[in-house]
Amino acid sequence: MGYVGLWLGDRAHGRASFGYWVVPGARGRGIATAAVRLASPWAFTTLGVARLEILVEPWNTGSIRVAEQAGFQREGLLRSYEEFKGRRTDLIMHARIIDDAAINPTSADKDRKDNKDGARRERS
Ligand SMILES: CC(C)(COP(=O)(O)OP(=O)(O)OC[C@H]1O[C@@H](n2cnc3c(N)ncnc32)[C@H](O)[C@@H]1OP(=O)(O)O)[C@@H](O)C(=O)NCCC(=O)NCCS
Repeated sequence: MGYVGLWLGDRAHGRASFGYWVVPGARGRGIATAAVRLASPWAFTTLGVARLEILVEPWNTGSIRVAEQAGFQREGLLRSYEEFKGRRTDLIMHARIIDDAAINPTSADKDRKDNKDGARRERS
């Protein structure tokens, strides 16, 4: 189905970074968003980190939506942040800190459904 993973290289500084991937046939069903939402409180409590990060290339709209819907705030563009396949790439930093309000999956999912229903009504 896919994976969600946490990179712990900066754990000594209270930070961890998410990576995720979903098989093409299962995309668009909310799986990555649900996985990040579930893993975030676990990372704060069990791993004891204070800050969770998601770094996304600017073209990756799906991944940016996952970060936003999982309660991560967009903090800015990190220019020429790392080398990938022989060239420097920009990355957008998203972060959620332990003091951010907890996400209630039930109300977030309801908002999402209401927004989609509203958009459908506007189109028809
Ligand atoms: C990015 C990825 C993990 C998203 O997984 P997913 O389970 O399909 O994501 P969700 O279903 O939770 O989608 C969350 C939102 O992103 C949107 N979305 C997903 N893929 C999208 C795409 N390719 N383009 C635009 N929007 C997209 C969904 O419509 C949804 O938004 P909505 O609720 O407003 O409709 C998946 O596309 C993937 O594995 N991509 C390749 C690996 C990758 O890019 N990983 C992230 C590296 S930072």
